[in-house]
Amino acid sequence: MCNSFRLNNGTEIPCIGFGTYKATDGTGPEIIKEALKAGYRHFDTAAFYENEAEIGEAAADFKIPREDLFLTSKVWKADMGAEKTGKSFEASLKRLGTEYLDLFLIHWPRPDLKKDWQGPLAETWKVMEELYRAGKVRAIGVSNFMPHHLEALFGSADICPSVNQIEFHPGHTQETTVAYCQEKGILVQAWSPLGRKRVLEHPLLKELSGKYGVSPAQLCIRYALQRGVLPLPKASSYERMKQNLDVFGFEISSEDMYRISSMPPAGWSGEHPDFERIYFT
Ligand SMILES: NC(=O)c1ccc[n+]([C@@H]2O[C@H](COP(=O)([O-])OP(=O)(O)OC[C@H]3O[C@@H](n4cnc5c(N)ncnc54)[C@H](OP(=O)(O)O)[C@@H]3O)[C@@H](O)[C@H]2O)c1
Repeated sequence: MCNSFRLNNGTEIPCIGFGTYKATDGTGPEIIKEALKAGYRHFDTAAFYENEAEIGEAAADFKIPREDLFLTSKVWKADMGAEKTGKSFEASLKRLGTEYLDLFLIHWPRPDLKKDWQGPLAETWKVMEELYRAGKVRAIGVSNFMPHHLEALFGSADICPSVNQIEFHPGHTQETTVAYCQEKGILVQAWSPLGRKRVLEHPLLKELSGKYGVSPAQLCIRYALQRGVLPLPKASSYERMKQNLDVFGFEISSEDMYRISSMPPAGWSGEHPDFERIYFT
């Protein structure tokens, strides 16, 4: 297993990214500096997370060369469309203190569940394609897209997305979407690769973590990698950050991969691109 994936346009992407949603709450840039110290070079953020400035500040304080970083951001639903997408991109660049992004994603396919989405989606993608052609971003992609959203995009797109970032963890592996993307050469990234801790106590994962001598979190991260899926774990302690990168000293057998892949549904966030969030009690 190597330490990067190659996107469909040839761009190399570090194979584990640091998830930053709510990561800086209460800590500011310090937590990002901890992640840099732990060895992360790939950071996943979004305009919606309101922490791009902290990430930019941490990178500047750490004095890390820009070319050693891989920075992803996303355009939020309210900023989709021909008018706003470019402005949102420029605002992200400014907050991050960078001249370019490594990856820019459409955060969700439908800006408004009650209105036409194919039109705004096509317009947004056109702007993303222009940013890519202008060299302002090294790769473009999507997030939370199911095959029917990608099919709609392909109706007007010139460039195939390089990435689709979706919720993916044991108990919620979205097999149809993963197979569809992998067949088309779109790299799947796993958001909530640990199911936001909801799956870490699952008996199968506990059994297998004992067998391999690793934590359930390491098992989830390694599981994603062995599926060809790029995990984006978030952690708030240096030990967990390090632990989540330490997943190259063991290999899950094909039988155990199968057992994890066929686990009953568990740990889904309730977030779905076509519906209001479903809350579980
Ligand atoms: N595109 C999208 O729509 C979307 C949606 C959601 C998330 N994301 C991205 O995906 C990233 C990751 O997802 P997430 O933050 O929702 O959840 P996650 O990474 O699955 O889980 C994070 C939780 O796991 C805990 N944790 C981390 N390492 C651990 C370990 N080794 N052992 C035990 N617990 C551990 C963390 O605790 P501590 O923090 O206390 O260490 C935190 O509570 C986000 O930060 C964001 O970048 C994208």
